[in-house]
This record gives sequence, structure tokens and C-alpha cells, in this order.
Amino acid sequence: MLKNSLVNFTLLWLLLQVVLVEVNCQMTPFKPSALNCHTATFIDNKLYILSGLIKPSPKSYKSVKEFFYLDVSVPFNTRELSWQDLSNINMVPPHGLATSAKGGVNNDTLFLYGGSNQTMESVYTFDPHHMIWNPPKITGISTIRKSSLTGVMGYNGKFYLWGGRTPIILNDMLILDTISLNWEKGSLVNAPTPRIFYGATLLPNDKIIYIGGLDDVTTEFDDDTLNIDKGIALSLNEVYLYDMINDNWDVKITTGKIPSNRCGFSSVLGLDGQRVIIYGGVFNNPGYLDTTLYVLDLTNYNWYIPKISGIIPKPRVFHQANVIEKYMVISFGIGYDRTVESDILLLDISNNEEYVWTTSFDPSPSPSSTSHSLPTSSQTSNNSSDNSKMVGAIVGSLLSGIFLSVGGFFLYKWNKKRQSQNNINNYNNYGQEKAVPADGSKNENMTNHEVVSAIVNNDNYYGQEVIITPTNNDGFKFFKFLNKK
Ligand SMILES: *[C@@H]1O[C@H](CO)[C@@H](O)[C@H](O)[C@H]1NC(C)=O
Ligand SMILES: *[C@@H]1O[C@H](CO)[C@@H](O)[C@H](O)[C@H]1NC(C)=O
Repeated sequence: MLKNSLVNFTLLWLLLQVVLVEVNCQMTPFKPSALNCHTATFIDNKLYILSGLIKPSPKSYKSVKEFFYLDVSVPFNTRELSWQDLSNINMVPPHGLATSAKGGVNNDTLFLYGGSNQTMESVYTFDPHHMIWNPPKITGISTIRKSSLTGVMGYNGKFYLWGGRTPIILNDMLILDTISLNWEKGSLVNAPTPRIFYGATLLPNDKIIYIGGLDDVTTEFDDDTLNIDKGIALSLNEVYLYDMINDNWDVKITTGKIPSNRCGFSSVLGLDGQRVIIYGGVFNNPGYLDTTLYVLDLTNYNWYIPKISGIIPKPRVFHQANVIEKYMVISFGIGYDRTVESDILLLDISNNEEYVWTTSFDPSPSPSSTSHSLPTSSQTSNNSSDNSKMVGAIVGSLLSGIFLSVGGFFLYKWNKKRQSQNNINNYNNYGQEKAVPADGSKNENMTNHEVVSAIVNNDNYYGQEVIITPTNNDGFKFFKFLNKK
């Protein structure tokens, strides 16, 4: 008798496992659009990607509302990215050209500033623990919403939002204190000339370095070669340092293998804090010498081309780069073929003698490298929520053993229902894009009418419309903004 019920129990347990596996397999992985001009923010082992522009037709850009993350606490290969979709909790209007960073009281909140959509607030926050977006109330001088800039979060929790455009290209230093939620302004004395699409990186000495950029929005480039074929980007033969402590500016003349004029590249600090690595961007000739990377030595402001190994990817523009563990993690952008290269590129920068392009991510086994800061209340609540998850899991599996036949059935039903609701949500978010292939490639079936409406409904960029002039080779031009007013 006892033996019999044990067999029954085992059978039912197996049945539950089968049901759970089936439910899991039904969850198809999220496939993001071919994004550029998005934001990428690294918080608590997750890389959050928000919005950005896509190219629904060869002649236009439009912004999307996608919001998703990659969990980097586990090893992964860039060929099989397991994106987790959070688009249905995203309340930020579709936009591109915003900037983001991690900050706030517990140093674990995503701060989003600026962007291209006229209906946006200037600042939004995302709390990853409660999974909530909010436009926070901010005191101090009232400010405008800029775009096309790179904000830098200081070690003090202040978000430095220099330059950008409104559509007028600016060189003001706007500062958002993400702890007291107050606006401030920085000094303009000796500030660089107005610019957008520059590189900006926080240095260990409480300074921000600003590199290159663009001050002419009529500039045009080829989206395949990334070569600027009309106009000129700003020079990298000088770089600018903003001192966050003393609120002043300094300029440094650079030497060595100075990259040609460019903008829209990414820049990160090397792991030793003594160099800045830049990748990609659109350029004036001569462009890339023999790699897509340049390094600026901060001890003497000398540019050099690093030794690299691995499969060298195509350069990209309007991507993002985050340093995660020992990797420079590049996300999305324009300039690569999605059927050939992953949306994510990994450059192992742990050895300054040789950087390595790789497709596999190994989370560092030593926790010491990530825990320089004191424990915060967020980390505490993190742990306790992990604990309660664990307790929940144990209690859950005990209960499921008891209520197995009933529970398994209802769980299955419930999941089915939730699944179909998710599908409806996805349809609502992306319904407008259903005629566009997921890889963003040219859609042969798009009618003239759809092309026209895609342009008309394009980013209403401060009353301007992004018009892309097609070139002979099916390339397009990005910077050209036609005034509708
Ligand atoms: C927030 O965390 C970063 C590391 O991710 C650290 O460098 C920074 O100093 C912290 N900011 C504050 C205000 O504690
Ligand atoms: C701007 O956001 C609104 C929602 O607030 C949306 O309806 C509109 O399509 C967005 N505009 C663009 C150009 O994406």
C-alpha cells in the first residue's frame, strides 16, 4: 500500500516536471529590433536596453518602445542571447537619442535623461527591484530636454549632461543630482564648442573626458562604410577635461596615431584607469587604420592602435558600450549585418598588451572585483528578496507535491492564459511594425503608401522630421534634418 502510493507520488511528480518543462519551452526567447541610438544601463548584473531607433524602410527611422535586459551573472555566448522582455511595463514614450546611467539614493536606479520624443518628460527613473518606471519630481532651475548627448554619472551620484541639442546644438553643463533630485548648472568657462555625438568617459580622478563629436546636423554618411560623405566631424587632436570637484574645464592636445575626425563612437575607461578605449563611429577619411579600435593613453595623451586578436567585427555607429567585468560590451548600432554578427560584441580588455574579441562571456569568479563599495540597503533588500524567493521555492515544491494533481492542472491552464495575454501585449507594442522584418532589413513588400506614412509618422524631432536621402548603393544618410516649420 505504502509502496503503491509512493509510486503514485513519483508518477505525479514526474508529470508535474513534464508540465513545467512544456510550459518553459513555450516561452520563445525575445528577439529585439535592430536598434540604434538606444540606451544601455548596467545595474545588478543586468544590462538594460531601452528604446532607440529602427529603420522600418530604407527612407526613414522610427522610434520603438522596447525594454529588455540580459542577465550577465551567468556565462553566455553572444550567438545565443537570452533577452528578457520587459516592454509591457515600459511607460517611457518611444524615443531615441536619450542617455542613461545608474544612480540614485541606493545607487541602483536607472536614470534616463533626454530623448527625441516631444511628449517625453526630461527625466525618468526605473527601479529594478520593484520594476517601476516613474518621472521623478526634480527641484531647482527648470530645464529643457536635450538629446544626442552622453551623460556621465559621477562617483558622487551627480549626472553630468553636457552638450547635446534642443534642436540648437549646445555646450551647457546641466547637472542632475540623482540623490537630492535637484538640478544644477556647471561652468561654461573654457568649455568645448557646442557638440553632439561625442565620446564621454568618467576618469578615476573625478574628471570627465570629452572626445570628438559633431556640430553640423547636415552631415551625411554612408551606413555601410560609415564614411562621412558630406560635411565634417570634429577633431580628436584635442580632448577636454571637466573637473567635477572644482567645476572647471581644461584642454589637452593629443599626439600619436590620432583617429581621423569622427562622432557616434563609444568610449570606455580601461580597467587600469589609465587609458580610454574608443570603438566605431562615423568618420572623415582616412577612417580606420587597421582596426576599429583606438586607445588614448591618459598619462601622456598619446593615441595608439592596440594589439588585438579574435575575429575583428565591423565597426558600428550609434551603438552603446558598457564595461562589465573584464569586457567592453558593445550593444546594437548601425553598420553590421545581423545575420553575420551578434547584436552584442565582447572585447576582453583585461590585458593591455592584447585585447581579445570574443563571443563567450565568463562572469568573473572572484567577487572582490565588484564589491569595492559598502553594502547598501538595496543590497540588503536584494538578499532578503533572494532568501524569500528561496523559501518560496521550497514551500512551493512541498505544496505542489501535496496539491499535485489539482495544482499542476491549474498551473498549466494559468500559464497558457498568461502566454496568450503576453502575445496580445507584444502585438500591441509592435503591431505597427508587423510589416517590418525583425532584422530591420529592407522590406520588399512595403508599398509606397507605407513608405510615405513611415516618413510622415517618423520621429517628430522638435518639429523636424528625419529624412534620409537614399544613395546609389541602397545606403542612407542619417544626419540630414529637414525643417518642417
Ligand atoms: C555607485 O556605484 C559605482 C560603481 O558601480 C561607484 O563607482 C559609485 O561611486 C557609486 N556611487 C555612489 C554615490 O555611491
Ligand atoms: C511619442 O510618444 C507618444 C506617446 O507619448 C507616441 O504616441 C508617439 O508615437 C511618439 N512619437 C514618436 C515619433 O515616436
